[in-house]
Amino acid sequence: MKVLVIGGGGREHALVWRLKESSRVDRVVCAPGNGGILAEAECVAAEAGDVGGLVALAERLGPDLTVVGPELPLVRGIADEFSKRNWRIVGPTKRAAQIEGSKIFAKEFLRRHNIPTAELYGCYDSPGDAYSALCAVDWPVVIKADGLCAGKGVFVGPNPDKATAFIERVMEKNELGPGGRRVLLEEALEGEELTFIVVTDGERYAPLVPTRDHKRVFDGNQGPNTGGMGAFSSDDLLPPGLRQIIISNIVEPTLRGFAAEGIRYQGFLYIGLMLTLSGPKVLEFNCRLGDPEAQAIAARMDFDLAEILNDLAAGQLVPAKLRWKPGASVCVVLASGGYPGNFKSGKRIEGLTGAGQINGVKILHAGTKRQNDSLLTSGGRVLGVTASGPTLEAAVGAAYETVGKIHFEGMHFRKDIGTGAGRRIAVGD
Ligand code: AMP
Ligand code: GLY
Repeated sequence: MKVLVIGGGGREHALVWRLKESSRVDRVVCAPGNGGILAEAECVAAEAGDVGGLVALAERLGPDLTVVGPELPLVRGIADEFSKRNWRIVGPTKRAAQIEGSKIFAKEFLRRHNIPTAELYGCYDSPGDAYSALCAVDWPVVIKADGLCAGKGVFVGPNPDKATAFIERVMEKNELGPGGRRVLLEEALEGEELTFIVVTDGERYAPLVPTRDHKRVFDGNQGPNTGGMGAFSSDDLLPPGLRQIIISNIVEPTLRGFAAEGIRYQGFLYIGLMLTLSGPKVLEFNCRLGDPEAQAIAARMDFDLAEILNDLAAGQLVPAKLRWKPGASVCVVLASGGYPGNFKSGKRIEGLTGAGQINGVKILHAGTKRQNDSLLTSGGRVLGVTASGPTLEAAVGAAYETVGKIHFEGMHFRKDIGTGAGRRIAVGD
């Protein structure tokens, strides 16, 4: 098989890593890829948001299978374009991807199908109405921009002044672009977060191992939200009883809801959950794998990813083929100085050769690029040091030992990934 992977972050490096291991795969092309993927696959220039350009690229390359990493091409309809041409692709249609593309669509879907989620105060398309609504909410309140906002569209507002300022930034100053034209206000939930991702061909589904992301930039869940500073997966993360509740109260009603609405959802479905005292509740859906969750998930895969994804795209998923390594895995993200705010790129990354030697560790690249013989930073999240082991402690130990060998100017990372930090609700500044 020739496989095309769309995207260029750590998640896509994780996909390339596992696809390359398959005896079914003789060629992997990644568009656009990054400095680390380049060492393992062919990389070609591409814009994730340019569906026409990606279709033209696939026309030229003729892949047997295309796997889409990021949400943007899915929300813009890449799966519809591929399906029209009878090309195999892993990822939902534009209509199905609305589950991530519009938080209001997702909330209404959850309510229509009685799936547990935070209480909705209301959806607003004028800032005046949103400000007025703040008089009747409990604090803190959660404000969500409706559309895609590159991970910046959710704010947990601790008081009316800060909530008002956020609404002003997104609805009046358009700081997040068109995704902020409408907002919803909802109840703030307390508990621990859990990422539960399933793969489905529209009929059958299989859960991936559960993971926990660490979205805040600083240790102890402090500071602003990021795309994710690290994730881990372990057998202990999700007791069997709770797993069954998630399956029966959330996963299956969601998949039945799609079917009832005439949506054939195919691909990865990311369910972001809050484990509250009154049970698991949906925080968000994404129409793709998470990043850095995918890195921790890939580290535990004990199956042929190309085979599973090819079955999936052909509408013939065999859930029993997904087998997982027991134990645990972790991904620690190394970020550029200043991220998630402004940061400088082009810093030379050092220590990777020695760092790659530790058993059970894989260094997955995100914002890196090759220049002559050097590897330079080129994004906010630069590397994801990913490790697996028989226990979470072993995986965490191996990952941080590796982190200690890597250096670039301004590098920062969380020191508490996988250590149970940050059990409290973190409100915005
Ligand atoms: P989202 O972009 O929807 O994933 O939200 C980003 C983050 O905001 C989530 O991972 C949670 O940490 C937080 N969040 C979203 N909705 C809520 C909520 N209703 N209550 C508390 N935190 C939330
Ligand atoms: N790590 C969260 C996400 O991928 O949306």
